Amino acid sequence: MEADTMNVVAPIEIAQPREAPRSASDREIVFETRGLTVSYGKAPAVSDVDLSIYRNLVTAIIGPSGCGKSTFLRSLNRMNDLVPSAKVEGEVLYHGQNIYGDGVDPSRCAGESGWSSRSRIRSRSRSTTTSPGACEFLG
Ligand SMILES: Nc1ncnc2c1ncn2[C@@H]1O[C@H](COP(=O)(O)OP(=O)(O)OP(=O)(O)O)[C@@H](O)[C@H]1O
Ligand SMILES: [Mg+2]
Repeated sequence: MEADTMNVVAPIEIAQPREAPRSASDREIVFETRGLTVSYGKAPAVSDVDLSIYRNLVTAIIGPSGCGKSTFLRSLNRMNDLVPSAKVEGEVLYHGQNIYGDGVDPSRCAGESGWSSRSRIRSRSRSTTTSPGACEFLG
């Protein structure tokens, strides 16, 4: 075949290697709870929870109905403040700042300008009693 009749072919696109998953110690922690206990009146709904939630890593909270998934999530943006009987103990850090600390405005914790909208929080329920009833995702 003569050179001037050959089709010009674009270079083949070569898949780029994926970034290797980072180890837990290298990841950025967005939320961290330390000894988080939330009670309604005298009844604890979640008790002494230490948990880190990392940037760009989907975290799913799974468990049977009533185990405290929503209570836990509401503690991350102070929505439990709207429940008169709810009492929150321990620490919830958002990028290292205790959102229950002195001088924090609770209204900053929810809504358009708050971290609940920037840190996507979704929940999905299933109506079954034989397996975990619902999943709540953070990512
Ligand atoms: N406003 C409230 N007042 C009193 N008790 C509450 C309140 N909200 C939740 N609880 C209790 O706290 C516990 C945890 O409830 P929560 O709604 O957090 O569970 P859940 O895992 O989200 O359940 P589900 O899968 O049904 O959504 C349950 O025993 C529930 O009855
Ligand atoms: Mg729930």
